[in-house]
Amino acid sequence: MATLLDGKKTSSDIRIEIAEKVEAIKIKGGKIPHLAAILVGNDGASEAYVSNKVKDCAQVGYKSTLKRFDNSVTEEELLEEVERINDDPDIDGLIVQLPIPDHISVQKVTDRIKPEKDVDGFHPVNVGRMAKSLPAYISATPYGILQLLERYEIETSGKHCVVIGRSDIVGSPMSILLSRKGYPGNCTVTLCHSRTKDIKEMTLQADIVVAALGIPGFLTGDMIKEDTVVIDVGISRVEDASKKSGFALKGDVDFDSVAPKCSFITPVPGGVGPMTRASLLMNTLLAAEKKIYN
Ligand code: GUN
Repeated sequence: MATLLDGKKTSSDIRIEIAEKVEAIKIKGGKIPHLAAILVGNDGASEAYVSNKVKDCAQVGYKSTLKRFDNSVTEEELLEEVERINDDPDIDGLIVQLPIPDHISVQKVTDRIKPEKDVDGFHPVNVGRMAKSLPAYISATPYGILQLLERYEIETSGKHCVVIGRSDIVGSPMSILLSRKGYPGNCTVTLCHSRTKDIKEMTLQADIVVAALGIPGFLTGDMIKEDTVVIDVGISRVEDASKKSGFALKGDVDFDSVAPKCSFITPVPGGVGPMTRASLLMNTLLAAEKKIYN
């Protein structure tokens, strides 16, 4: 049976380490890290995500600022707010919670955030720097997965990693990061997506699988070889009559058939999810300490 990659415990360790660093900054009279978040509209999921981000900041001792706008906000007004935050010397990091309404260009908004404050790692400058192995903010989910691999001392060099899903914020950066020189990295990477002819043929050759395609239970036990490391990025609500709420959270991996065969596996929930939250805190600290750009 596989060892569980415990994202809850690992992210809690990271938060404790960050809180200690913030305490040390306070004692020295240094500048407290400060994250700003922009939230447009009243989407329930976005409200919950942003509220968690604000809570996370408070928990580790950061300052946070939440700027809210109605759905009717114009692109120009939103870009002006981004500029104001870019120019505010007290704010270290800025995120604009996505999705934003269709009349506003995500690309324009993302591009307007100063790369130095782009703690989501979505700006093309950060994506480009990441691809060139230069110091960069790495987007939260891939960064969290790298932390899990590192903290569990999982060997990656020379391994064949199969990433399923080519999204801008998970699959694509994950494939680049694991193929870079260094640790975690030095993998031979195959990136599978909706047009891949035979995904099972690929995953059967994998030492590490990162499932990030958003289809609950997609990766099944017959698709992997013994001792594979399996990272499950999916988190979908599926109907479950046995639960009081009527639904359960399910990853992209069919845990029951995969776990008995693999060496390490992330549970859902409690694997990649909590690591993603911790990553934003890590990036905000890097921003405050001017570790990426100086
Ligand atoms: N919406 C869903 N995930 C994210 C994220 O990581 N960052 C931002 N800004 N919006 C999101």
